[in-house]
Amino acid sequence: MHFRLLVLPFVASFFATIFAVPHGKLMERRGRADNHTLNRERSDAVKAAFTFAWDGYEKYAFPHDELHPVTNSFSDSRNGWGASAADAFSTALVMQIPSIVSTILEYIPTIDFDAPVPGSQVSLFETTIRYLGGMLAGYDLLKGPLSNLASNATAVDAILAQAVHLADNLAFAFDTPTGIPSNNLYFNPSTTDNSTTNGLATIGSLVLEWTHLSDLTGDPKYANLTQKGESYLLAPKPASSEPFPGLVGTNVDINTGLFQDATGGWEGGDDSFYEYLIKMYVYDPTRFAEYKDRWVLAADSTIAHLASHPSTRPDLTFVAAFDGQEIILQSQHLACFDGGNFLLGGMVLKEQKYIDFGLALVNGCEDTYASTVTGIGPEVFQWVTNTTAANDTTNPGPPADQVAFYEKAGYYITDGVYVLRPEVMESFYYAYRVTGDQTYRDWAWNAFVAINSTARVGSGFAELVNVNAEGGGGFTDFQDSFLFAEVMKYSYLIHAPDNVFQVNHNGVNDFVFNTEAHPFKVAGTPI
Ligand SMILES: *[C@@H]1O[C@H](CO)[C@@H](O)[C@H](O)[C@H]1NC(C)=O
Ligand SMILES: *[C@@H]1O[C@H](CO)[C@@H](O)[C@H](O)[C@H]1NC(C)=O
Ligand SMILES: *[C@@H]1O[C@H](CO)[C@@H](O)[C@H](O)[C@H]1NC(C)=O
Ligand SMILES: *[C@@H]1O[C@H](CO)[C@@H](O)[C@H](O)[C@H]1NC(C)=O
Ligand SMILES: *[C@@H]1O[C@H](CO)[C@@H](O)[C@H](O)[C@H]1NC(C)=O
Ligand SMILES: *[C@@H]1O[C@H](CO)[C@@H](O)[C@H](O)[C@H]1NC(C)=O
Ligand SMILES: *[C@@H]1O[C@H](CO)[C@@H](O)[C@H](O)[C@H]1NC(C)=O
Repeated sequence: MHFRLLVLPFVASFFATIFAVPHGKLMERRGRADNHTLNRERSDAVKAAFTFAWDGYEKYAFPHDELHPVTNSFSDSRNGWGASAADAFSTALVMQIPSIVSTILEYIPTIDFDAPVPGSQVSLFETTIRYLGGMLAGYDLLKGPLSNLASNATAVDAILAQAVHLADNLAFAFDTPTGIPSNNLYFNPSTTDNSTTNGLATIGSLVLEWTHLSDLTGDPKYANLTQKGESYLLAPKPASSEPFPGLVGTNVDINTGLFQDATGGWEGGDDSFYEYLIKMYVYDPTRFAEYKDRWVLAADSTIAHLASHPSTRPDLTFVAAFDGQEIILQSQHLACFDGGNFLLGGMVLKEQKYIDFGLALVNGCEDTYASTVTGIGPEVFQWVTNTTAANDTTNPGPPADQVAFYEKAGYYITDGVYVLRPEVMESFYYAYRVTGDQTYRDWAWNAFVAINSTARVGSGFAELVNVNAEGGGGFTDFQDSFLFAEVMKYSYLIHAPDNVFQVNHNGVNDFVFNTEAHPFKVAGTPI
């Protein structure tokens, strides 16, 4: 029933998209702007790379979780339910590859969600964003704009039933004194790892998926469970755990609801909590206005307190982390989604200051790619500012062997691996969707070509040992499922024409991407 209610605004804004003026005054930027037309050569090349990786996975690993492309073997790091298939689903859909869509569509109804790999710990967060996210996006697309690819209507309906089954199996995680979930679960019998805390991102990045499941099924229990847990993050206690308005600590006691620290930022462990605050507002501005208010507080505090310019490259902007009021001049590949998230907020709230800041962050993250030998950015990096004291042990200067690199790049590398992460590509995508500026397409293309030429090996793509060494310094034989869900999707969509599932520069969106890049049909009407 909820689903039908969603159809009308969806159709209306589909036409709004077609007739929209390409670039509002808000988005006017420097030259070479276009109107999101197809770049066939590039989008076809990304599609070919996706198909290559899928073929390798299908041949050597399916239906296991992930391919080991160097040795043509596999592993089951995500419960053994076929994580790469779940994660590839919505990408095969937006790329419109009928054979892959149909393979995954026939597979999902056969997954036995009662039986994870024996002894394996089921992460509530990872299972939600990859499996639940992949299934709900596939369902939305096949019931909506890509219904032409729904080769088996029974299987499409079975996807939603499978999503319900999985959520029902996970729901015991929320059975805690506060309702804040445990993240690390075991099935048969249903137990947890007995951890007394959970983290900001793992508590705060469930609400989009579970609320959408409630909206699709008409059963409010899934939304209720996750929104209860989230309520402790929206009103953080004690006050000391919110050192800057809207910016909070990381670990929360699941028995008391109290934050245990004041350490945080936009890095891994905290990241998608902030991401979902504004995405919930995109999903439904009426129900989630409070989430937006918390995002605005966090965004303004970030601009005021965490924006940082390296001493050797004051033209660059990075976002620092914090421990209480102390600033830690460190960032990560994972944190590079922040530019895209500020851009989404700027578009939706029609606030130029967030667009300007978001573009500055995109520029900084592009520098982390452009400065290395491989053209791919590192996992973790640091810098100092021109006011950092020489005896500041939290924020040391570059080691001797990176002084020259720091001089030029404005950051130095503290972990040089590349594990096929998408966040820089994701932010390029938002930057292009907002501005229509070809520069961002070119940056995305450069990054894709670098990944394709360095990480492509054997039957797929593998992790790199050192982005600042020739050839990436060798491989780690592992292809995480988010290569399919995220790297390939954002690399493709930036060169693809307008569509209802693309992010819309005018801030009126029919779809919103979960943190694994699975697009969900929004529930509310933009205000
Ligand atoms: C949009 O792109 C098409 C194809 O390149 C072009 O014909 C059209 O004039 C463009 N429209 C605007 C408003 O820029
Ligand atoms: C369609 O999907 C249903 C449910 O998964 C399955 O039982 C059936 O065999 C499929 N039909 C075909 C023709 O593949
Ligand atoms: C959790 O605690 C229970 C009860 O003390 C115990 O039986 C179980 O083995 C513990 N689980 C883990 C993963 O430590
Ligand atoms: C969901 O939460 C609302 C508001 O707190 C409550 O009225 C409703 O009974 C809850 N529904 C379920 C199924 O828990
Ligand atoms: C320090 O850096 C800031 C911004 O990066 C700049 O505005 C300021 O002029 C610099 N101060 C000195 C003494 O270099
Ligand atoms: C660092 O140096 C400053 C003077 O340059 C001094 O005031 C401060 O106490 C020193 N801090 C530490 C931790 O040594
Ligand atoms: C990606 O790599 C393959 C294999 O080396 C190559 O054939 C293809 O042209 C590459 N694609 C791009 C866009 O560079």
